[in-house]
Amino acid sequence: MKDRMSRRSFLAASGAVAGTTLLNPLRGAKAEAVFPRVKMQEKIRVALTGTGSRGCGMWGSSLSNDYSAYVEFVGLCDKNQGRVETGKRLIGASCPTYTDFEKMMRQTKPDLLIVTTTDATHHEFIIRGMESGADVITEKPLTTDEKKVQAILDAEKKTGKNCRITFNYRYSPHRAKIWELLKAGEIGELTSADFHWYLDTSHGADYFRRWHRLVACSGSLWVHKASHHFDLLNWWIDSDPETVYALGDLNFYGKNGRYRAENCRSCRHTSECRFYFDIMKDSYYKQLYVDNERYDGYLRDGCVFRDDVDIFDKMAATIRYKNGVQVSYSLTAYSPYEGYRIALNGTKGRIDAWIQESHPVSDVNYDEIVVARNFSRREYIQVPFASSGHGGGDKLLKDQLFLPGTPDPFKQCAGTRDGAFACLVGIAARSSIASGKPVDIAGLTSLQPQAVKEYRRI
Ligand SMILES: NC(=O)c1ccc[n+]([C@@H]2O[C@H](COP(=O)([O-])OP(=O)(O)OC[C@H]3O[C@@H](n4cnc5c(N)ncnc54)[C@H](O)[C@@H]3O)[C@@H](O)[C@H]2O)c1
Repeated sequence: MKDRMSRRSFLAASGAVAGTTLLNPLRGAKAEAVFPRVKMQEKIRVALTGTGSRGCGMWGSSLSNDYSAYVEFVGLCDKNQGRVETGKRLIGASCPTYTDFEKMMRQTKPDLLIVTTTDATHHEFIIRGMESGADVITEKPLTTDEKKVQAILDAEKKTGKNCRITFNYRYSPHRAKIWELLKAGEIGELTSADFHWYLDTSHGADYFRRWHRLVACSGSLWVHKASHHFDLLNWWIDSDPETVYALGDLNFYGKNGRYRAENCRSCRHTSECRFYFDIMKDSYYKQLYVDNERYDGYLRDGCVFRDDVDIFDKMAATIRYKNGVQVSYSLTAYSPYEGYRIALNGTKGRIDAWIQESHPVSDVNYDEIVVARNFSRREYIQVPFASSGHGGGDKLLKDQLFLPGTPDPFKQCAGTRDGAFACLVGIAARSSIASGKPVDIAGLTSLQPQAVKEYRRI
């Protein structure tokens, strides 16, 4: 009751404004930032490898439609010759297409390479891209094992080129607000965090239909998905992860199903299976995947109960940071709803935040953060819903990447060091499960965890 009263008074006094005032650093700077480049510089010549869903949507058509004053596509590549042609059409590009990456780099000599292939192949393109003279933007995760991490770090050092990681989760206003509250010392010195992420039986299940179900392709959800979450933790905690102890199991998908087929279109159980997915009803997916199956045999509507699923669907980890912060983390991939809960405990109080993505409460248009101070009242901060993808993060990220001169007040810009530490937590977790022992991140690559995270604007 006391909490409710203080909540109401806070809303009455400050409304949603409290959650928005410091949230969009780009708004003022954008207009001035944009025009100098148009006048003074050529467009950035961009090549993209991996014309799947993310390559075509987040990067392809979006850059073609919304950022065409600053960038132009000079080459598109995919190992699937049909998909690269479909991709070109969906993106609306007029550049040449390739199935031979080296040939694309030789012939087009791009300023910038965007890497949106399957996770386990990122390192090949990041390294060869930099060696060919391009800067690189890669989708997360940076890569899937520690040897590949080291190879990327070495190549960046050797070539002097930059590789930027697209941690779009950092850019959601709700998460930026948490960063801001921590930086402002609102809960004193941060000491521990509880972070629990839930993937539902729609989005979560989709990972088990696709290449993500194989550790060899995705590094498992520890890397493919949780690298987003570990990056958020690294960024909020502002320190490097030092030791990881983890548990994991496959309790729901894969071999746990009562029946299975190779994919939904060839299945006899469609009427009884709650996971039946009719890809033919989705014209975008049909064009991108079904129409190009004949080139590589990839089934986008794979059965979530296939025997070959070798990733975990429930995971838990205890992580210690170099600055002493301890984290309790979990990821569940078969939840009835999608979202997360985070609690950050400090010497003067605690921040609680949560998001329920798939079934949001209908009469609110904001996400909430509760700041509870020891021996004091709680404060409820509302951060309005953002309209673009991934909690508004996708657009803000692209603005920062392509609109010149945009500031970085929340230190959201991420390079290979950030990409490496984010995936090394998941890599260490896999290794901890295999050995039953805690794993030190310092032993995985040449990167040594620091008490205060290094920040470098790229
Ligand atoms: N940041 C985010 O929120 C977010 C969201 C979705 C996907 N992603 C990332 O984007 C990347 C692509 O994911 P997606 O969902 O588009 O997958 P997808 O399967 O739709 O696309 C991957 C594409 O890469 C191509 N490919 C694979 N290996 C290749 C190779 N050796 N050479 C050339 N092409 C190759 C495939 O043929 C396919 O067209 C992944 O790394 C994924 O983790 C990030």
